[in-house]
Amino acid sequence: MTPRDTLADGLTRARERTLRLVDFDDGELRRQYDPLMSPLVWDLAHIGQQEEFWLLRDGNADRPGMLAPAVERLYDAFVNSRASRVDLPLLPPTDARAYCETVRNKVLDALDALPADESADFRFALVISHEHQHDETMLQAINLRTGAPLLGPGAPLPPGRPGVAGTSVPVPGGPFVLGVDAVTEPHSLDNERPAHVVDVPGFRIGRVPVTNGEWQQFVDDGGYDRRQWWSEPGWAHRQAAGLTAPQFWNGDGTRTRFGHVEEIRSDEPVQHVTFFEAEAYAAWAGARLPSEIEWDKACAWDPAAGQRRRYPWGSSAPTAHLANLGGDALRPAPVGAYPAGASAYGAEQMLGDVWEWTTSPLRPWPGFTPMIYDRYSQPFFEGTGSGDYRVLRGGSWAVAPDILRPSFRNWDHPIRRQIFSGVRLAWSEDQGSAA
Ligand code: AVJ
Ligand code: FE
Repeated sequence: MTPRDTLADGLTRARERTLRLVDFDDGELRRQYDPLMSPLVWDLAHIGQQEEFWLLRDGNADRPGMLAPAVERLYDAFVNSRASRVDLPLLPPTDARAYCETVRNKVLDALDALPADESADFRFALVISHEHQHDETMLQAINLRTGAPLLGPGAPLPPGRPGVAGTSVPVPGGPFVLGVDAVTEPHSLDNERPAHVVDVPGFRIGRVPVTNGEWQQFVDDGGYDRRQWWSEPGWAHRQAAGLTAPQFWNGDGTRTRFGHVEEIRSDEPVQHVTFFEAEAYAAWAGARLPSEIEWDKACAWDPAAGQRRRYPWGSSAPTAHLANLGGDALRPAPVGAYPAGASAYGAEQMLGDVWEWTTSPLRPWPGFTPMIYDRYSQPFFEGTGSGDYRVLRGGSWAVAPDILRPSFRNWDHPIRRQIFSGVRLAWSEDQGSAA
């Protein structure tokens, strides 16, 4: 396959996925399931609008587009808050679908006509990443919906392995290469670059994410009621929001997932917790959360080879045997399900399953240069005034394998938990840890 065929395939895979997530009646697509999320039809037309803007208009707002300027503005995420989008005069679902299809046909023609040029390739990859990221956002919205389920129970996953929950692996101190460059990862986004050497003191990291069973012990031990485990802002949020368990837990041993009520599996990674809850859990467990730099080293560094691996397990592309990705499972896999996916240090399930909260605010790596979509990362960096973001790493079950790399960085407010977020613990060398 030529790089161009790979991009064409990537575009098609993303679109098939998007269309499956909007294969509902018009009323459904216009609903606001929760003020935190957009109506699905907003995401749909926004996907098309961004694709048109970056690939057909060169990211140049002065070049006329297919939508009237006032309509196009409805899909500007900086102009319209998520909560307000349900009240906008959005394109009806039929028009949104037709618009996306028209854009896509022109984009595929443009791809065919493309000179073999790396920066143009990058833009297509960026648009593929953008569409898949919104697909994950749409899954978050659908998960918040009440009523009879729209989606099935999810595709089957491999079984877990006993004995791995609560265990940890050592990551010896020393320098490693944080971040990536365009040469090795041409599709990496601006905030992942450039590669640079960072020295990290030794630490231990959870072999697998924290499970529901472990989290239940925190609940049973009064973890949500004991001020001592919480940071000051964390406790204030816990009080204000009345948190007593992860979101979607029903209090009777069941949880609701995409409208399905089911038993909470004790060996599955805990999901739908805020950064503040993650921090409190870690303190209760005698541990802490990893920084994103520690997380990255545990995921990608190969100490024997003295270089980064493309994936935790090596260079081969993700498969169903290596990681839970792609969005069909609709849930994280039980811990221990992917021994073949272990990193050089033995950490498992680093990619897929749940996004893992880190202690790190979103900061540019030294030498950061904004990409053509210069509002993707920069407005969210610490100190820009836009917020108190924390970085999440590793991707969830809802991330497409096409767009995920160990270096991929996500971020959200520390109070958010409708995202597919979970926890992996870390211990400093002077902190006691699980075996
Ligand atoms: C990187 C997931 C935080 O959803 O706000 C989508 C991705 N940026 N459209 C977001 C994004 C523009 C972004 N996150
Ligand atoms: Fe977007």
